[in-house]
Amino acid sequence: MKIRVTVVSENSVISSGNLLGEHGFCALVEAGDEKILFDTGRGYALIHNARFLGIDLGSIEKVVLSHGHSDHTGGLVELFKDLKPREVFGHPDIFFSRFHELPNGARRPIGIPFSRSFLEGQGARFILSKGPQKICPGVSTTGEVPRVTPFETGDPTLFLGAEHGGGKDHLLDDLSLIVEGEEGLLVLLGCAHAGVINILTHTRQLMPDKPVRVVMGGTHLGMSGEEQMVETIKTMKDLGVEKVGASHCTGLAGSARLMAALGDRFFFAGVGAVVEV
Ligand SMILES: [Fe+2]
Ligand SMILES: [Fe+2]
Repeated sequence: MKIRVTVVSENSVISSGNLLGEHGFCALVEAGDEKILFDTGRGYALIHNARFLGIDLGSIEKVVLSHGHSDHTGGLVELFKDLKPREVFGHPDIFFSRFHELPNGARRPIGIPFSRSFLEGQGARFILSKGPQKICPGVSTTGEVPRVTPFETGDPTLFLGAEHGGGKDHLLDDLSLIVEGEEGLLVLLGCAHAGVINILTHTRQLMPDKPVRVVMGGTHLGMSGEEQMVETIKTMKDLGVEKVGASHCTGLAGSARLMAALGDRFFFAGVGAVVEV
């Protein structure tokens, strides 16, 4: 069975038409009759882009949240305006309060901008687990990703709220989606706070018999140092990844680096990008 992934919302629009870009990420995964929304973006572009991409959001019954940042979860309130019951998968820490520290030291809230009880009142049924979750045949989550590489040290500008200790936020809730295509895996990243290579290492442990063919989504390489960029490119080549689609927190400079290093293995996974595996 071919599985199709469509980028519904992210920072850049790559196809012609009336689509909108916004800082965040959201993709639709279609596996047979199953439709899964992976993240929701910030919420300004979801309804608009779904309409112009011909996606019926009312038919979606499953949502997976990559982590609890507002640029991936803000669209929940738009999705649940129809009050339809839907399953929402993710990690138990997604509702932690979280902050981004600006250069002037001020901290801006960036956690999920709605309470769990509010979303449940709108129809959300949360199915939260630290471990991998099976979403439907051919689609599962990585669950919590062990941090094993020395060069993926996380984003130093991200902090937890005071009720969670107020220290550096390691985003233990960061998970990715594993799509089992006909000839190998597509790993769909939200923000890759766990580190792309940690995520791929964990994926290979979960599914050792299946090669990772495609990696796409937010890589966070735009917010990472030179060593992480160099080691990530080298390791993806060593693993034989055939296609790398950059979105969101990869950034323009990070995307340019990946394109220069990977050549025709690279693609922009902007709004409207479609990949089938
Ligand atoms: Fe993000
Ligand atoms: Fe994030």
